[in-house]
Amino acid sequence: MIPESLKTELTDRIASAVTPREAAVDVLKMLQAHYGWVTDEAVAEAGELLGLSTLQVDELATFYEMLYRRPVGKRVIHVCDSISCWAMGGETLMAHLARHLGVQPGETTMDGMFTLLPCCCLGNCGEAPTLMIGDTLYGLVTPELAEQIMAKERT
Ligand code: FES
Repeated sequence: MIPESLKTELTDRIASAVTPREAAVDVLKMLQAHYGWVTDEAVAEAGELLGLSTLQVDELATFYEMLYRRPVGKRVIHVCDSISCWAMGGETLMAHLARHLGVQPGETTMDGMFTLLPCCCLGNCGEAPTLMIGDTLYGLVTPELAEQIMAKERT
């Protein structure tokens, strides 16, 4: 159940769109910010507000990699595995992070702090390898820098 204040924000966002479907991703992101991930409840609520079936909402929610249909940690580390980052050491970076955090890609650390996910190009190819946490992009990430970033993001 979402608070009335969030419901008002969601309906305002939908009202500002040309069609409700146009606002669907924003609505899901707002619900994700509330729940921590896109829960089944969030999918149902989004569908009701948007006038879409839960299947239609679920199709959107499972298409966008910044929407999470499973529980995630407090911080989600998106490590780019597209061509430029791959060529510049992205695989090594992912392997180092996995070792450092004690998880495999796709998993969340035992303390619930970090989820490690591969992702498509983050649009920062000139500074490969790149990772993103929240809205922050980190480029030219060496394994040493990655450890510093983890320490900073942990605070
Ligand atoms: S290939 Fe990694 S940011 Fe584009």
